[in-house]
Amino acid sequence: MTALRSVVLGCGSYLPQRILTNAELAARIDTSDEWIVQRTGIRQRHIAAEGEFTSHLAINAARAALADAGIDAQSIDLIVLGTSTPDNTFPATAVAVQAALGIHHGAAFDLQAVCSGFIFALSTADNFLKTGAFKRALVIGAETFSRILDWNDRGTCVLFGDGAGAVILEAQEQPGEPGDRGILTTHLRSDGRHKAKLYVDGGPSSTRTVGYLRMEGREVFKHAVGMITDVIYDAFKATGTTAEDIDWFVPHQANKRIIDASAHKLHIAPQKVVLTVDLHGNTSAASIPLALSVAVKDGRVKKGDLVLLEAMGGGFTWGSALVRW
Ligand code: ACO
Repeated sequence: MTALRSVVLGCGSYLPQRILTNAELAARIDTSDEWIVQRTGIRQRHIAAEGEFTSHLAINAARAALADAGIDAQSIDLIVLGTSTPDNTFPATAVAVQAALGIHHGAAFDLQAVCSGFIFALSTADNFLKTGAFKRALVIGAETFSRILDWNDRGTCVLFGDGAGAVILEAQEQPGEPGDRGILTTHLRSDGRHKAKLYVDGGPSSTRTVGYLRMEGREVFKHAVGMITDVIYDAFKATGTTAEDIDWFVPHQANKRIIDASAHKLHIAPQKVVLTVDLHGNTSAASIPLALSVAVKDGRVKKGDLVLLEAMGGGFTWGSALVRW
């Protein structure tokens, strides 16, 4: 029996020009390149320019994805944008992207699941496409975390960066077999009991301010690997897949130690892991599509490859997706 699948038509990304190195951070606060690299694997991050908003990064990533797919923006009827750093409290940053692309039909909205934002957005778009409600979706992860960092808090400000990535999905009839192209399965989880471990200490309803990111780093670390691997086992179980079948593991790029420990626990070979945390830092919802874009551009991820995605972040939220490229 055939199945309607969300097939990836293309992907693209955008990084602000300005690169902030660990050495520059060490000149400003009590930290060192060695400490940051050893604990996180991060060497540098990109920082949005004054006047450069999340929507600007998202629009650039969306244009790159449209070019990669070789399709006209007018054929997009759904935009789902994962972000925790929208231009404004409302309207959604997704409608700014929609307007900039000259799209006046369909639907565009933001989705907030912090670092899991891209997986949640991908799953949402996938489920809409599978119902037939929309035909072509633009799924974006875009962030300007530099705007919500306390640059005097060395425990958090060294970790994050700005950027955006996007993929285009199209609903396509596939044979309904394990070899189908497209999104094969997605799994989303949340547990609000952990909400105070990683949060922003402001907001429109509570303080009427934007606030700054606060994190109990050790607590996040402690839960990350277990949550990530659990939700990946869900994806394996749902599809009858094993770690051996995976061609590429493209995890949320929070911390090299979390990624290495997750891959090790899952028995995924290091050479199958796409790592960009060294160059991008943690770009929250943008990190997976940014890493995907790098691996597609350099020829690693090819049509037909089985690609495993995962993320974990504030909430806590976490999720996985298995995609045949
Ligand atoms: N430079 C130098 N020293 C630092 C820095 C820094 N940037 N930050 C903290 N320290 C110090 C602390 O003050 C502490 O000093 P003390 O022992 O004198 O008190 C010491 O380093 C150890 O601090 P810890 O917070 O216990 O350090 P830890 O080894 O846990 O590393 C880190 C901190 C890197 C944040 C780690 O906990 C981590 O990676 N956690 C996961 C957090 C994460 O990735 N969050 C991203 C969002 S969630 C997600 O995307 C999955």
